[in-house]
Amino acid sequence: MEKIFTIEEASRWAAELRRSGRTLAVTNGVFDLLHRGHVQYLMEAAAQADALLVAINSDAAVKALKGPERPIVCEQDRAFMLASLECVSAVVIFDSTRATPVFQAIAPDVYVKGGDYTEETLDREEHSVLKAAGARFSFIPFIAGRSTTSVIKQIRGGGASRPQADRRIDPILSRRSVRRFQLRPVGREQLAELLKAGMAAPSACAKDPWRFLVVTKPELLKAIADKLPNGRFLAEAPACICIAGDLNKAHGGELSYMLQDCSAAAENILVAAGLLGLGGCWLGVHPRQERVKALQELFGLPEHILPVCCLAIGWPGESPQPRTRYRDDVVKFL
Ligand SMILES: Cc1cc2nc3c(=O)[nH]c(=O)nc-3n(C[C@H](O)[C@H](O)[C@H](O)COP(=O)(O)O)c2cc1C
Repeated sequence: MEKIFTIEEASRWAAELRRSGRTLAVTNGVFDLLHRGHVQYLMEAAAQADALLVAINSDAAVKALKGPERPIVCEQDRAFMLASLECVSAVVIFDSTRATPVFQAIAPDVYVKGGDYTEETLDREEHSVLKAAGARFSFIPFIAGRSTTSVIKQIRGGGASRPQADRRIDPILSRRSVRRFQLRPVGREQLAELLKAGMAAPSACAKDPWRFLVVTKPELLKAIADKLPNGRFLAEAPACICIAGDLNKAHGGELSYMLQDCSAAAENILVAAGLLGLGGCWLGVHPRQERVKALQELFGLPEHILPVCCLAIGWPGESPQPRTRYRDDVVKFL
């Protein structure tokens, strides 16, 4: 409870924080029915500064914003849930649809908002107060398929007929190619997780013929992008994982096995990226010989190690919506 402040208390607390040389990130929202998407978002928001303050709309303001049936959870409980999170340093309830009074009282060092916003689409009044306070803006994408609205729909029956199994494969169903990225680099830890996911893929006779060339140097990213006619955007991505296969290591020394193994690793990496809040896009290399040769040259690979694909990886700068490409006509139950 001691993390829940009035605006005046929060203002004094923020001033104290600054006096001790620490920085403050602020985000605002409703945070009704707290779910994993909220928590992951708040963890990333907290990483932007030394402390994170979450400003939530009062119940009356939520009704004005979202209609009479919301919020589901009252302001005190929403504040309590948020304050219980380790990544949240302070919570403020504000009684208006705009968070301007909070920003005026607190002057955040960093203002964090969901990736469905940009500096241009932020509320103009809020934007100008934040700008005047000298705040840096940071937009963090929400995880696809995780939202309070979808939880409510599920409970009310709108999606209730979806079987449980369907929900558990959501991270796979919601994977989309991401081709625009934030400038923020991808950390070593995240890249290591992706590589673990890649090497957890099935491989014929467990030969694991794959090699992973992890590129984060901007000049090398640009050089690779120059060789991939449909992957120019890789030049603007913070990371690339090029997956190459060693023909000598593949089951039976066969090209097809090597390609299947590397492709399985690529898909594992893309799904893992989505689970970590990252985005990615597969860029075809094999069987285009000019691309294979060009990348072999760039990476100094011998003849028997063939680049199969490159994966552009980064924090998403766009949020392609989940869609289904399911078709009954390509399925036959026997
Ligand atoms: C073998 C392969 C090669 C691909 N090559 C490229 C490419 O060179 N450039 C690109 O932008 N996307 C490429 N993609 C991504 C596809 O365009 C994308 O997966 C497809 O349109 C489906 O969209 P989704 O990934 O958003 O579901 C490739 C995908 C595969 C599997």
